[in-house]
Amino acid sequence: MSLRIIVVLAVLTGVTGSPSVTIRPEADSADMTAHPNSVPETVEETEFFGKQNVSVEEEAEEDVMATGELNPNHYPAQRAAKVVQHYLNTQYGSPFRLFGLHNVQSGNAEDVADSGRKYQLEITVQEIISNTTEKCPAEVLFPRGEQRRSPQVQASCEELLKNTKAQEEALFKQYKMNPSLLSANNIPDSFGHMEPDSRPLWHLGIVASSFVMLNESTENTLYNMAQVANITQLETENEQLKFDCHILLHEMVSQEIIHWKLLFTWSPPEGVKVLQMEQLPHCHEGAKPPNTS
Ligand SMILES: *[C@@H]1O[C@H](CO)[C@@H](O)[C@H](O)[C@H]1NC(C)=O
Ligand SMILES: *[C@@H]1O[C@H](CO)[C@@H](O)[C@H](O)[C@H]1NC(C)=O
Ligand SMILES: *[C@@H]1O[C@H](CO)[C@@H](O)[C@H](O)[C@H]1NC(C)=O
Ligand SMILES: *[C@@H]1O[C@H](CO)[C@@H](O)[C@H](O)[C@H]1NC(C)=O
Repeated sequence: MSLRIIVVLAVLTGVTGSPSVTIRPEADSADMTAHPNSVPETVEETEFFGKQNVSVEEEAEEDVMATGELNPNHYPAQRAAKVVQHYLNTQYGSPFRLFGLHNVQSGNAEDVADSGRKYQLEITVQEIISNTTEKCPAEVLFPRGEQRRSPQVQASCEELLKNTKAQEEALFKQYKMNPSLLSANNIPDSFGHMEPDSRPLWHLGIVASSFVMLNESTENTLYNMAQVANITQLETENEQLKFDCHILLHEMVSQEIIHWKLLFTWSPPEGVKVLQMEQLPHCHEGAKPPNTS
């Protein structure tokens, strides 16, 4: 297993600002960009990690979980901190509010009797759209037991919870009043571009994906959102917008691209709620998914 991690130093002009985003591909996967089905693996890392650097000399320690004070730049602290990002998105994310992990200041891990392992972290969280950061204390418990349960997170980043109600209401109204139902594919495309109109759908896709990434995370994973393969608005009678979407997640430890199908709703007062999540059969890059029928 390779623990290569992509340290992307490309600086973007931001999630809101520029009409198109160009991603500098990873040097040793440059050939992938020519492939029409290739996944822009570095997009979310670029947006969410910014200039953060993660050093990963720790492969040898994989089996023995680090305990006590952690190196904030190493995987155990970074993985736990990443779970906080997903948690914040599930709680407070919207098309106008997205959280990213900026960096980790300090971390501590301990075994908690029979219940699991607890990480206490001091991290800097970034609200990507307003490009503001805040230092936040956070705690992540990875439960232990027969049955895998999702990590439990406590975090407080009050200053990042800016009021985005007016923008949300305006977008919601625009989507509700559209004469036809929205749909879009490949956000961003394999060159890392997306249309300005697709940007709110990309943000909604990231928030919905955070529910999966939070639920699926363990001490041994590092999930990033790679792409919204497609997203389709569904008819609703109530005051919600409903979307069906197919997303691609990048699990950076195994270097796998994982496909999920999600059904979620969004409204300004309720936020994003995931109604169904289903992992789709593994399909290798460029290969057809197995025919299961
Ligand atoms: C975000 O803010 C930082 C510090 O205030 C600044 O250096 C950086 O250029 C900003 N990034 C964007 C994308 O505007
Ligand atoms: C990257 O890591 C090095 C060594 O840990 C540190 O000195 C440097 O400030 C870091 N850079 C950023 C942008 O975080
Ligand atoms: C979260 O994951 C667990 C274990 O895999 C699963 O049982 C549960 O249904 C998932 N939650 C949701 C909301 O799908
Ligand atoms: C969505 O994208 C996935 C992955 O590329 C594809 O398998 C699926 O058929 C697409 N669905 C729709 C409705 O376009």
